Amino acid sequence: MSDFHTDFWGYYISAIALAGIFWCGWLLMSQRRIKSAPADASGAVADTGHVWDEDLRELNNPLPRWWMWMYLLTCIFSVGYLLLYPGLGKFQGWLGWSSTGALVEQQARLREQVQPVYARFENMDIPAIASDAQGQEIGQRLFLNNCAQCHGSDARGSKGFPNLADGDWLYGSSPETIYETIAKGRHGVMPPFSEQLDARAIADVAQYVRSLSGLAADPIKAARGRSDFRSTCAACHGVDGKGNQMLGAPNLTDGVWLYGSSAATIAEAITKGRDNQMPAHEHLFTPQQIRLLTAYVWGLTRPGETPR
Ligand code: HEC
Ligand code: HEC
Repeated sequence: MSDFHTDFWGYYISAIALAGIFWCGWLLMSQRRIKSAPADASGAVADTGHVWDEDLRELNNPLPRWWMWMYLLTCIFSVGYLLLYPGLGKFQGWLGWSSTGALVEQQARLREQVQPVYARFENMDIPAIASDAQGQEIGQRLFLNNCAQCHGSDARGSKGFPNLADGDWLYGSSPETIYETIAKGRHGVMPPFSEQLDARAIADVAQYVRSLSGLAADPIKAARGRSDFRSTCAACHGVDGKGNQMLGAPNLTDGVWLYGSSAATIAEAITKGRDNQMPAHEHLFTPQQIRLLTAYVWGLTRPGETPR
């Protein structure tokens, strides 16, 4: 009911529900009084005049008593149900039950049940969990169920969704940073520059950006684009184009692309800007679960550790 801005629909639905129940009661009473003609002196019951299959007559007997009671009891049950449980507009019901409350309770019970499994990882650091077979297994399952729809089941991402298995990081690779990314989410924003730069200048900067990672670029345009890059882009991407992990501004020199390396794709980023969001997950997981996810993501490349 909280989805509506006014109380009107609550009253509307309550009125229909209650009127329906009372109408059923009224129907029973009215039919009982009018239709049940008494048997005549000889004990024969009057019939309704309906005849089927030549000799099957419909008698006008009163409704059986057990049937009437069942009918009445269902009406009373409905009223009782609507008093105990939510069903009438904003009225919560005397029991205070709600589907959200039931879900929260079930989740709490489930957490309590799995607590012993997670307790084992409580005193392990992230690299230790990443080396633990059970830790990796749980982390991978959590990842497949909650992260794979964006980052891919192999964590290799796709256009706009970063590859988590390539050792290249927008925000940083330390366990603390990865934990924060998962818990709080990230929002990478690059403003559009179509006001400051005209189409020619944008094409020039795009060529310069391509030259930063050694891609084929028009040397004259790239040389012209260099000064615009320094004045307009360096604030976030750095004078050398190596990016800034505080802002999530990608390194433009490493040959790893979030959106693509074609001149057109780069020009599109400059013209329209980019706005990309990783949702926060802290309300979905316990801190222990986020630690196992962190260990799984960290373990994909083991940054800061000498490769084995
Ligand atoms: C709705 C899509 C979506 C889901 C679900 C999602 N992510 Fe992301 N994730 C993104 C996007 C988009 C970015 C890049 C954000 C940016 O560009 O600022 C990102 C960034 C990240 C980064 C930072 C990568 C870097 O290079 O620094 C990590 C780590 C990460 N996600 C892990 C996860 C994990 C673990 C989960 C599951 C709990 C998850 N993500 C679920 C969309 C998603
Ligand atoms: C205010 C900071 C900021 C400025 C200024 C800025 N960028 Fe960005 N840029 C970002 C961020 C943040 C991203 C990542 C957006 C995302 O996560 O989707 C980005 C992404 C990009 C990408 C996509 C990289 C890829 O891997 O696909 C390119 C190309 C780019 N910027 C070029 C430029 C150029 C050229 C300029 C100057 C005209 C510029 N940026 C100015 C913050 C900035």
